[in-house]
Amino acid sequence: MKNTRVNLLFAAVLAFLMLTGCSNKENNVETNTTNAVSFDEVLASRRSVRSYDATKTISEAEVRELLIATQEAPSWANQQPSKYYVAMSPEKIEAVANLVGERNKQNIAGAPVLIVSTYEKGKSGFFRGEQTNEVGDGWGAYDNGLSNAYFILKARSKGFDTLIMGMRDSDALRELFNIPENEAIMAVISLGYRSGEPRQPEHRPLDEVVQFF
Ligand SMILES: Cc1cc2nc3c(=O)[nH]c(=O)nc-3n(C[C@H](O)[C@H](O)[C@H](O)COP(=O)(O)O)c2cc1C
Repeated sequence: MKNTRVNLLFAAVLAFLMLTGCSNKENNVETNTTNAVSFDEVLASRRSVRSYDATKTISEAEVRELLIATQEAPSWANQQPSKYYVAMSPEKIEAVANLVGERNKQNIAGAPVLIVSTYEKGKSGFFRGEQTNEVGDGWGAYDNGLSNAYFILKARSKGFDTLIMGMRDSDALRELFNIPENEAIMAVISLGYRSGEPRQPEHRPLDEVVQFF
């Protein structure tokens, strides 16, 4: 009799936990793991996308999640010099699209987000205001590229697509976003959903670019 009551109590607690989801943590992890795209798949499917699905939108929360990923990027002495200016309103998107050259403008038509990346000069590569080696502010550009790499890979892992554009009118972008002079303007990055398959670039043979010693 006592055993039956204990068993019933146990069954009730178990049912409660299952219904409330308290025991589902492991299941969630499993589900996430099953749905997660592998890192290699992210690398292989990330391409420069030059044709966007204009019917799909992206929320600010989604963009924030991608930008949070950039905060995980390494930077020179943890200087974190990268900054981002995010155009999401139709007016700002149009204004930025007009500053990346005609070909790029056509290619990014329909992308719901355009992002300008900059880095603060005089931080990475500098110690107490002094340039530490011959690279100088090149380290800021290096850090910005790393940060942007995190952004585009995180974007792909979430099903988004990107195009980094080095063709841009930096003076006009500075004015448009009121970007201070101590920031170097680097890339404009489009963010959206691909429409159609992007072209596959050719890659140089590994042994042409790597030497082992
Ligand atoms: C710094 C930088 C600037 C770029 N500028 C442009 C650009 O202005 N327009 C463009 O269509 N692609 C641009 N690209 C994309 C490259 O052409 C592309 O990364 C390269 O062809 C390899 O293709 P994938 O990105 O699909 O691997 C740029 C890429 C980088 C990293």
